[in-house]
Amino acid sequence: MAKLLVQNSGPLKGEVTISGAKNSVLPLMAACILGEETVTIKDVPELRDVKILTDVLTSIGAKVDKTEANTLEITTEEITSTEPDYDLFNKMRASILIMGPLLSRAGRAKLPMPGGCAIGARPIDLHLKGFKQMGAEITVTDTFIDAVAPEGGLHGARVYLDFPSVGATENIILAAVLANGTTYIENAAKEPEIIDLANLLNKMGARIKGAGTDSVKIEGVEKLHGTFHRVIPDRIELGTFMLAAAITRGEILIKNIVTDHVKPVIAKLEECGVEIELTDEGMVVNAVGKELTATDIKTLPYPGFPTDIQSPFMAFLSTVDGESTVQETVFENRFMHVAELNRMGANIKTQDRTAIIPGNKKLEGAQVIATDLRAGAAMVLAGLVADGTTEVSEIYHIDRGYEHFEEKFRKLGATIIRIED
Ligand code: UD1
Repeated sequence: MAKLLVQNSGPLKGEVTISGAKNSVLPLMAACILGEETVTIKDVPELRDVKILTDVLTSIGAKVDKTEANTLEITTEEITSTEPDYDLFNKMRASILIMGPLLSRAGRAKLPMPGGCAIGARPIDLHLKGFKQMGAEITVTDTFIDAVAPEGGLHGARVYLDFPSVGATENIILAAVLANGTTYIENAAKEPEIIDLANLLNKMGARIKGAGTDSVKIEGVEKLHGTFHRVIPDRIELGTFMLAAAITRGEILIKNIVTDHVKPVIAKLEECGVEIELTDEGMVVNAVGKELTATDIKTLPYPGFPTDIQSPFMAFLSTVDGESTVQETVFENRFMHVAELNRMGANIKTQDRTAIIPGNKKLEGAQVIATDLRAGAAMVLAGLVADGTTEVSEIYHIDRGYEHFEEKFRKLGATIIRIED
């Protein structure tokens, strides 16, 4: 299994350009199978998750062509199977996003129980609740879910989400665009990736209003057509590079960004004493020579502090002056990186869903594991300021969600080597 060897690299300096958002491109690709015509998606990041979803879509009849770097053309003249390949599907939790489109276009979706990052139980009850309310018959066993639409197709419904789940909001929107009648989603997730999905679907001929608010209205239409779409920039990658500047006490110009998407990360870094300046070119994050201090963080659904930035931020907080706390409210088991940071001397304690970070630590290089995608980034950030070498294993998690990860870091002056064994 491949590993990354990370050395103490001093302050990172230079500029980096953010790629298209992983969490947008996956639902966008799932949306493409709703119509027969070709949809062209630009700024598609080259990621393992994109490759997996490409294979999943191909296994049900889509033609996915990479026409140039970062461009996909997806055409689904016909759905040839309502049962995607089991092994492929299980490689990635977000594969569940093809359930809504399959059900609505082909009338059935028989899927294995989804896999993915090991961060808590991650049930899909809210997705299924929505489909049931739209008329689907659902059979769930230990290994698969079989959903069948009623004769004549899914119908509109009023769906209230007990929690504003990103995936459930997306999947129900995807199921509703071709349903008979109007669907309302209440307590919907408000993440920018949901707006991106609605924008693509509306360009394909859907009628969606309210995406990005907690109340989304989808009027069903008969048919969708082809279009062209550019993926929004990845706000989590942006947050990761903001923290790379902060933890190494460096200065990085970050380009291709939407500042509004990272307001809580800006606010919290500024509270710690990091200087953030917005220019015509992008965002300059400057921590050179700064005395940085502690803060408290609570993860929340958007527009609150993103759970995906929690672990990189925790690595940073280990190095500032004073005690910080991080409270995780979105996922029930997202502190697996704490044990890894502690191997490097961070001395973090957890109590239920709160982590207490004593701060003021000079981290030590160690052998650590990327326990999930964002935890992998956190380990690399810690390695950049630790004494000696940090060996990060299970980096397939990092490859799932960061495009040209080491290359981007190396350009900023980081010493990172990938070893394959
Ligand atoms: C998406 C993101 C992920 C991010 C997360 C929260 C993608 C591909 N992934 O994941 O990077 O960390 O949003 O911002 O976009 N839940 C239920 N029942 C359900 C669905 C979810 O109880 O049917 C719970 C989950 O267990 C979790 C919480 O809701 O505790 C949030 O999950 P959700 O918003 O659905 O996250 P994902 O869409 O899986």
